[in-house]
Amino acid sequence: MVNPNQQADRIMVNDKFFRLYLGREEIDEIVARLASDIDSDYTGKVPLMLGILNGAFIFASDLVRKMKIPCEISFVKYASYKGMESGGSINSLIGLNETIRGREVIIVEDIVDTGRTMAKLLGDLKLYEPASVRIACFCFKTEAFTENFTIDYCGLEIPDLFVVGYGLDYDGSGRNFPDIYQLDNSK
Ligand code: IMP
Repeated sequence: MVNPNQQADRIMVNDKFFRLYLGREEIDEIVARLASDIDSDYTGKVPLMLGILNGAFIFASDLVRKMKIPCEISFVKYASYKGMESGGSINSLIGLNETIRGREVIIVEDIVDTGRTMAKLLGDLKLYEPASVRIACFCFKTEAFTENFTIDYCGLEIPDLFVVGYGLDYDGSGRNFPDIYQLDNSK
């Protein structure tokens, strides 16, 4: 049984192999850079850090612990459930409330791929009338991106790879690896 805490060149998650892409030391440096950028931009303010569950729970907790300015932390999640009448699945945002109004919000996300999830969140968030909204995201798949919002605090631009670890999952598994691994199709 593999110990997820131990860095390995190659790991297996469910039925697939993944190889090391980014080690925990590099991850740490990236998060420190983002925290310092946020500190400088929000001096004298108390931003509301809004993590997107499930993936952002690790990045968010690392980021806020490296920040030197005060902040508040909250999480939201898209819950999908079956519509009673349509039979289709509906994505509703849970965890947002009136405390967003008038706040300087920083969305904290693990990965932006096509950007569709973030675009939907930005739309939903607007209804709660925050004073400002910025985005901090650890990985940004620039080649897959089809939306037109700006990522204000971008950890790492990556090609169109499938990655796991550091909060990112493959079919529910792999989130707890402290390093990031990419899908390895070689035998
Ligand atoms: P979107 O395409 O930007 O809407 O991304 C949707 C969601 O897909 C992200 O929030 C992640 O949860 C998931 N996702 C996208 N790419 C990856 C990946 O490489 N590994 C794990 N999850 C991913």
